Amino acid sequence: MASGSRAQFSSKLGFIMAAAGSAVGLGNVWGFPTQAASNGGAVFLIVYLLMVVVLALPMLIAELTIGRHGQASPLRSIASIWPKRSKVPVGFGLLGLLTALMILSFYSIIAGWLAGYLVSPILDLIGLHTAANWLESFSLERNLVLALVFIGLTMKVVMSGVTDGIERWSSRLMPVLVGLFVVMIIYILTQDGAMDGLKMYLVPDMSHFSADLVVGAMGQAFFSLSLGVTVMMVYGSYLPKDINIPKTAAQVAAIDTGIAFGAGLLILPAMFVAQKHGVQIYDQAGHLLNSDTLVFTVLPAMFDTMGSVGVIVGILFFALMLIAALTSSISMLEVPVSCAIEELGHSRKKAVWWIGGVAIALAAAIVFNFGTLFGLVITISTVYLQPLLGLVWAICAGWVWHRAGLLEEIRQGNPEVANSLFWKVWPNYLRYVCPILMGLVFWVTI
Ligand code: PFF
Repeated sequence: MASGSRAQFSSKLGFIMAAAGSAVGLGNVWGFPTQAASNGGAVFLIVYLLMVVVLALPMLIAELTIGRHGQASPLRSIASIWPKRSKVPVGFGLLGLLTALMILSFYSIIAGWLAGYLVSPILDLIGLHTAANWLESFSLERNLVLALVFIGLTMKVVMSGVTDGIERWSSRLMPVLVGLFVVMIIYILTQDGAMDGLKMYLVPDMSHFSADLVVGAMGQAFFSLSLGVTVMMVYGSYLPKDINIPKTAAQVAAIDTGIAFGAGLLILPAMFVAQKHGVQIYDQAGHLLNSDTLVFTVLPAMFDTMGSVGVIVGILFFALMLIAALTSSISMLEVPVSCAIEELGHSRKKAVWWIGGVAIALAAAIVFNFGTLFGLVITISTVYLQPLLGLVWAICAGWVWHRAGLLEEIRQGNPEVANSLFWKVWPNYLRYVCPILMGLVFWVTI
């Protein structure tokens, strides 16, 4: 539904689905379980939950509010809360866009692997074993081709715009994904070995606690909620004025965190079940082997234990995951595209072509230098840039934006907010607590 010339989400549910669509993706099903498995399970889970509540959620509310106030591209939304136009931190906005593209480039490589695992069993069924094998084996060619296909798909959806593309896709996927998750979790918990994984995931062993774990959990929380890179500012800008932002943000965070938790509940037990079936998960010293591809080792091993039903469950799972990855990747591309449309006057089509081209070039650079660049780009963009940029927007909302203006924006969807506990706490929390907490986390690691 359009209001004036600018598209809007057609309903509150549509927005929640789209924002949750951006949030729920590889971060939940690949990033979170991989990190939890590498960092002692329960301890990581606890610190992660803490990071979502004390840092990510308050900052999600800030980003959405700035975006809804501006009703424009992030650069303009930021300018709209600025008292003096000359001092607007355009550089941070551009850094946000660049970070979104960096994330898209590594994301498309992992999503390409998903696509490979989706198509491979189908090829196997029709006897094309060599091709099936190629899709599942690590190679430069495979990584490149599949990443290109994935970015191509992302470009196609973004070309069709907000309501037709983003909202429709997201609303369809989420319920099916949750249903399949529940079935798979119940199945895996009945298997031999699963309880070892469940114990690792739910019973904390404090010896795994470290400063690195805290920084990792913080980055993971920001990555999972798509923060810092102005994605949530753009989504906020498509949000109707009568929506209660804090409540809606809490719902989005709850859905995202619930799915990450569920993914852990599936994958950590599945690791130990796979181990019982002879799949090697840990090396002699007890470290995870190939953590990047852990999920791609463990899940197919689980599907194998299910017999012929496993083939269908596997195909369905990878298909759903691929769509979940797509609803996230379209949000990453939508950010620079919406800026090019509004700032440079490009048509949507032109913007998608050239910005998609940049993403392809970045992804190719990573594929050709996988050993050095893959982990590095992930660390720079998600562990450092996302939290730091998130903090910049929190400071903008807390310190730069006039308090009355901020209240006015929040009040539109929430008339009683001025008397609420939320309003008494949140602005000062953004001003003082968020910067101090994040500073502490970085200081302790350095
Ligand atoms: N939140 C997404 C996930 O968990 O997979 C990843 C993501 C999407 C990060 C959009 C950043 C972004 F702008």
